[in-house]
Amino acid sequence: MKKSEKLVARRNAIVPEGLGMFSPVTIVSGKGATLKDADGKEYIDFAGGIGVLNAGHCPKPVVDAIVKQSRQLLHACFPVAIYEPYVELCEQLAKLFPHGKSTKVMLVNSGAEAVENAVKIARQATGKQGIICFTGGFHGRTLLGMTLTSKTGYKIGSGPFAPEVYRIPFPDYYKRNDGLKMDEFVKRELQAFESYLHNMVDASNVAAVIMELVQGEGGFVVAPKEYVQGLYEICKSKGILFIADEVQTGFGRTGKWAAYEHYGITPDISTWAKSMGSGMPIGAVIGRAEVMDKTTKGTLGGTYPGNPVACVASLATIEYMKKIDINKKGEVVGKTVMNFFKKLKHECSAIGDVRGLGAMVAFELVKDNDPNKPDSDLCKALLNACAEKGLLIISAGTSGNVIRVLSPLVISKPQLVKGLNILRTELLGLTENTSNKVANKKEIVHS
Ligand SMILES: Cc1ncc(COP(=O)(O)O)c(C=O)c1O
Repeated sequence: MKKSEKLVARRNAIVPEGLGMFSPVTIVSGKGATLKDADGKEYIDFAGGIGVLNAGHCPKPVVDAIVKQSRQLLHACFPVAIYEPYVELCEQLAKLFPHGKSTKVMLVNSGAEAVENAVKIARQATGKQGIICFTGGFHGRTLLGMTLTSKTGYKIGSGPFAPEVYRIPFPDYYKRNDGLKMDEFVKRELQAFESYLHNMVDASNVAAVIMELVQGEGGFVVAPKEYVQGLYEICKSKGILFIADEVQTGFGRTGKWAAYEHYGITPDISTWAKSMGSGMPIGAVIGRAEVMDKTTKGTLGGTYPGNPVACVASLATIEYMKKIDINKKGEVVGKTVMNFFKKLKHECSAIGDVRGLGAMVAFELVKDNDPNKPDSDLCKALLNACAEKGLLIISAGTSGNVIRVLSPLVISKPQLVKGLNILRTELLGLTENTSNKVANKKEIVHS
């Protein structure tokens, strides 16, 4: 029995059923965009620990900062004793992501915690309770995060869920365009939002709308710019705060530090985690000072948030990202993947849609070219086939039929193209009986 198989067996014997497992790939070490498993097999990483490794596995400056800080101070608890890395990181984040004239920042351990705190802040700041979220949205696995999350498969049997959470359809043009042009579609969706405020919950009871501008777990669905701008204006006019959940979109993934920068808006509050710490558990809530300060002392906090080691890891990550121009890398990776997928769509009729923003690029697998017939079996088979061939890649979408690329943005062009060609070969191989003959198709060598 291989070491990996033994480890999987041990895992299955000790961890509960409910813990998901994309594939039985094990990992012992990682560098850049390369992983090594328990038997020494190498993988190209297109999963990035679900979007955490924009700066790559174990970037040297981050590792060095962690080692140095570990020797000096592992823990203090910020409410108990103040330490500089926490303050410094908040200052850096406020500079990178100014929210109006004056910005305030608090640190947390994870994306879900960022969302929980953003909602607590929005409720305290407005004196209102309602939160509006979207179909297809994902905001974490705590009780409130799960309530805000759309996909029922994440929460079967886990209720009752948190009250005062309302859900509206995400402006998913691919699935819900009904033959409308984009401007007509946006108009219809914004009208639907306004009538929701008349028919379902009045604005006087809504503290905030929370939105992923590009849905991550929902399948890399990009919200139309005009929709977001319209929604933002409606919210502003009705005293509803706008929370942008940037947990998956942030830190170069869309080719900018923040996805909201593509939309010409600044949220009242935003939530962050994943790639900001290169794998250390750290997240943040950033917001306009006048909103953030409308909170009562003692209502925010925790034992571990903004742990000193995680703070220095994040500071070093940000500095490194600036040095290597992570946004440019995001743009370049995104263009390569997008061009590749567009070509692949012409070769493979199972691909219903190719979409993305920056390096958040995905394709959706459907049957009969019908957006409403998701092919999740093909998607699963493709993930497994890729893993066999040394490519670790994960799916997304409420039906699990979307293939998404979340590779480290430091991946080299040859390694990226190699990974894309594995994906292509395996996809064409799996679909060849229906629409393709893979044998006489040459590799796509450039984008
Ligand atoms: C947009 C978004 N929000 C929140 C979360 C939850 O983050 P975490 O898993 O760190 O709690 C995720 C995780 O995938 C996410 O993609």
